[in-house]
Amino acid sequence: MNKALRKAVIAGNWKMNNTPAQTKALIEELAPLVADADCGVVVCVPFIDLHAALEATKGTNIKVGAENCHWAASGAFTGEVSAPMLKEIGVEYVVIGHSERRQYFGETDETVKARTRAALDNGLLPIVCVGEVLEQREAGITEQVVTSQTTKALEGVTAEELKKIIIAYEPVWAIGTGKTATDEQANEVCAIIRSLVEELYSKADADALTIQYGGSMNDANADGLLAQSDVDGGLIGGASLVASKFAAIVKAASK
Ligand code: 13P
Repeated sequence: MNKALRKAVIAGNWKMNNTPAQTKALIEELAPLVADADCGVVVCVPFIDLHAALEATKGTNIKVGAENCHWAASGAFTGEVSAPMLKEIGVEYVVIGHSERRQYFGETDETVKARTRAALDNGLLPIVCVGEVLEQREAGITEQVVTSQTTKALEGVTAEELKKIIIAYEPVWAIGTGKTATDEQANEVCAIIRSLVEELYSKADADALTIQYGGSMNDANADGLLAQSDVDGGLIGGASLVASKFAAIVKAASK
């Protein structure tokens, strides 16, 4: 597989952190630090912070993403936000199926598929998250879990649409725990996803797909993880809330 065929993307997932004023301040601190990045730089922020993020990133190389979108364009879904709403205000990316949504908010493979469809239909770039929980890794079924999550999310996605998708492999046991997957563990599963995509689509499509690793990636371990043949970037939680740490990860991806 040829890593040079795809561009690394480093995306921050801020989760439920930062008010609009804090968003503005953090992006203003971050922007000069990543201005010469040779990779994609994205910040995915809470819905309420999107306007502030879009304003603060104007004229910079930082793109803005949401952390979720509903599958319907509109309707009686109290508390939800739709893909056309995000598109209209200028959002480019959207995280879909994060494990915290699967764990705490009833997200299933079926809803991940539906939200991915809505994102694609509305011109948003989905960052689709997959990954096993600790018991599944210990039971030796990581490959099955990730294969089934990825296959389901990509159901109905054409080869043309696949070009707009990023897959983020996030082992749930490594998220927010400080327990990073080893370079080899991360690469092994990213390679499994790429082989699956080759089976489902083609080698060229698999070669072109950006696959991120996420789970306690930080300024200290990014170099090793990002040097792996099948890891094309990162989806960063905690470390993305500190401008210098996030910028150091962006720098590691730009090598
Ligand atoms: P941490 O980097 O805080 O482990 O979070 C990873 C993550 O969930 C990104 O989506």
